Amino acid sequence: MSKILVTGGAGFIGSNFVRMLLQGSDHHVVNVDALTYAGNLENLVDCERHERYAFVKADIADAAAMDAVFAARRPDVVVHFAAESHVDRSVLDATAFVRTNVIGTQVLLDKARVFKTQRFVHVSTDEVYGSLGASGYFTEETPIQPNSPYSASKASSDLMVRAAVHTHHMDCVITRCSNNYGPFQFPEKLIPLMIANAMEGKKLPVYGDGKNVRDWIHVVDHCAGIKKAMEQGRAGEVYNFGGDAERENLFVVKEILRLLGKGEDLIHYVKDRPGHDRRYAMDSSKACATLGWRPAHTFEGGLRETVAWYQQNRQWWERVRSGAYQDYYKQQYGAR
Ligand code: NAD
Ligand code: DAU
Repeated sequence: MSKILVTGGAGFIGSNFVRMLLQGSDHHVVNVDALTYAGNLENLVDCERHERYAFVKADIADAAAMDAVFAARRPDVVVHFAAESHVDRSVLDATAFVRTNVIGTQVLLDKARVFKTQRFVHVSTDEVYGSLGASGYFTEETPIQPNSPYSASKASSDLMVRAAVHTHHMDCVITRCSNNYGPFQFPEKLIPLMIANAMEGKKLPVYGDGKNVRDWIHVVDHCAGIKKAMEQGRAGEVYNFGGDAERENLFVVKEILRLLGKGEDLIHYVKDRPGHDRRYAMDSSKACATLGWRPAHTFEGGLRETVAWYQQNRQWWERVRSGAYQDYYKQQYGAR
């Protein structure tokens, strides 16, 4: 049994990871999250009264706040999800991306070193490798060539983690994963945006020619990989996780419409994202061979399950879209 400090646990992947730890281990979990627009404590309603769970509202880039958290909680392990995560927002303004993703990561590394945290798991992304042509896969040896302000900030944070390993001999593991989908994903990302828009009879904005390719992985498979990297990963190593599910965006959008029984006339081609990466595809063979991990979901099965989840949890995403979800913290924890 360990004390695990999870950052960004009120977001999409972090909340799924917190739930996995509480249900599938005896670890104690402290969730540190600033509750930005992407942080939603309604993602964790079923966990908030768990005896091994605690929530702390704090900003990872605030060194004094992190000092207090580490001093009070003395975590054995940090699993670091907190980030600004949406590429389109980074194109509009990269300031928060540099502050949270780069400075925030450095603050956490400093505190983990001072407070002698045993292991630091840094959750990163395939986007640090840049964009692929029609063939080939990203391996852990692929050079880092980020193209968006988001991926540049994530690559910078990966390099700070690498430096902590080499300079301070810290026990850090970096995970890099492809595009996640599943329950509790903020409806600004492709899959939940398209599901919610289609359910409301709104247009589905497809960027460019719709032929960009992403390698889709169910969030539970990603979380299972992070847990394995946390438990069995070797210090200083990078582990790639992908879903073995490369699909063109247009295919994904049409599949969502088919599952919802909606017509393709809702598809609306819009101006392309500036600097839009063409294709991502992960080689996860290292994680399969050394961690005994593999994705359990097929894309078709996982997408069907996910569409059903958004149908059954309409209130969840309607409260996100209306902004009502932001009142939840005040209601549960008082005005702090
Ligand atoms: P998200 O945007 O859904 O959640 C991010 C969380 O971090 C939110 O709860 C937010 O409140 C919190 N946060 C932001 N700034 C903070 C700060 N300064 N201090 C404390 N908390 C802060 O993100 P996600 O999609 O769950 O991604 C989680 C991590 O996984 C990120 O590091 C992201 O780069 C990485 N990742 C995401 C994907 C994906 O497909 N979504 C794929 C690979 C890697
Ligand atoms: O690859 C991992 C990354 O996946 C993570 O590191 C990021 O945090 C996460 O946001 C995601 O980045 P993408 O930019 O790939 O995801 P997004 O859902 O924004 O877009 C997926 C694809 O769909 C991409 O080619 C752009 C396209 N798209 C997206 C939106 C929001 C559209 O065509 N229309 C849209 O409205």
